[in-house]
Amino acid sequence: MKKIAILGSTGSIGTQTLDIIEQNPDLFTAAVLTCGTNVTLLGQQIAKHKPPLAVVSNEDDAVEMGKKYPQTEFLYGKEGLVVAAAKTDCDMVLNSLIGMMGLIPTYYAIKAGKDIALANKETLVAGGEVIMDAVKEMNVRLLPVDSEHSAVFQALQGNDDQEINRIILTASGGPFRGFTREQLSKVTLSQALNHPNWKMGNKITIDSATMMNKGLEVIEARWLFDVPPEKIEVVIHPQSIIHSMVEYTDHSILAQLGVPDMRIPISYALTYPERIKNEINGVDFYKMGSLTFEKPDLDTFKCLSFAYEASKAGGSYPVVLNAANEVLVQQFLEGRIRFLDIQNTIEKVLQMHEPVNQLDLDTILEIDQNIRGELEV
Ligand SMILES: NC(=O)c1ccc[n+]([C@@H]2O[C@H](COP(=O)([O-])OP(=O)(O)OC[C@H]3O[C@@H](n4cnc5c(N)ncnc54)[C@H](OP(=O)(O)O)[C@@H]3O)[C@@H](O)[C@H]2O)c1
Repeated sequence: MKKIAILGSTGSIGTQTLDIIEQNPDLFTAAVLTCGTNVTLLGQQIAKHKPPLAVVSNEDDAVEMGKKYPQTEFLYGKEGLVVAAAKTDCDMVLNSLIGMMGLIPTYYAIKAGKDIALANKETLVAGGEVIMDAVKEMNVRLLPVDSEHSAVFQALQGNDDQEINRIILTASGGPFRGFTREQLSKVTLSQALNHPNWKMGNKITIDSATMMNKGLEVIEARWLFDVPPEKIEVVIHPQSIIHSMVEYTDHSILAQLGVPDMRIPISYALTYPERIKNEINGVDFYKMGSLTFEKPDLDTFKCLSFAYEASKAGGSYPVVLNAANEVLVQQFLEGRIRFLDIQNTIEKVLQMHEPVNQLDLDTILEIDQNIRGELEV
């Protein structure tokens, strides 16, 4: 029986993880559940899974929830998440928090010797080097949940990673695939939230529409697989059936395929190196007809090219890219800016940034806060 601490259990990845736990009660149990403010859903999850510990964002909610669910201990805030990640009796921490807030709990969970199933890509975008150093030092497993990285990880099994020629990350292209800049200048929030293939949380859905999501994934892959960004290619594959590929030095390419359902990569991270059965449909090649591929338009979807540049420049650039993106996506979600303002403002912020090359956790947090301070008006 594997005890899983789920950080962000009320989100898209968190709820799908709980589905898997529910379907496999003899394999998994939830050791921790957490939410931000959605205490109604958290309450339902607690009633079903009875975790010993839960974390909410604010103190008042923690007190109220403690009265309703006396068998569960409630903590709150960032400190609560760190305690939940590092000090709980669990075998694995699945981090499905959204944004930069995932970094610190991941770091302390690793330092406490916990294996990590990582959905929260912003952890590696902002803190890649610090996190990977901690993983090596503590000799823990950092298993990808992101479908593309899970695909690469699966294609690497049994192969020598010294023989990688390139990693090919596939991208659906999002709701605005093929749009011109002129067309992008008129898109609305509801159009941007309407992803063709995946049902996800709002932030990653907007990131997919701007293609920043793929940029963040390039940086994530750079750290997870220790491959320079020059060797990571992005290919638009609108059907989202091939989740990513690895090309080896002999030009053999290994790909992982499946229907677009996050429960497949989540399960693999939970059970690696084994696999478990599920009720998800397989790929029907006859129904699907064809798989197609296109080159990404980096001139129109500039966020992807900013991410490549930030990754190549290294140091503080990815921290800045991530912080600016988080603030601007939130402003777009609140209807305060237009879609193209996201990439236009990120470009300016990156141009003005004075880089810092040596990063520790405190420096990363300071740079992140400075950028947020500049943009949050
Ligand atoms: N969704 C996907 O299919 C997918 C695929 C690949 C990778 N990912 C990555 O996985 C991560 C999670 O994505 P998601 O789509 O699952 O996000 P989501 O649906 O927005 O869920 C985010 C989770 O974080 C919690 N949270 C938000 N603000 C918080 C705060 N201030 N303090 C504590 N907890 C807070 C939310 O709680 P509330 O419910 O209370 O707000 C929720 O449990 C992201 O890094 C994303 O890039 C997601």
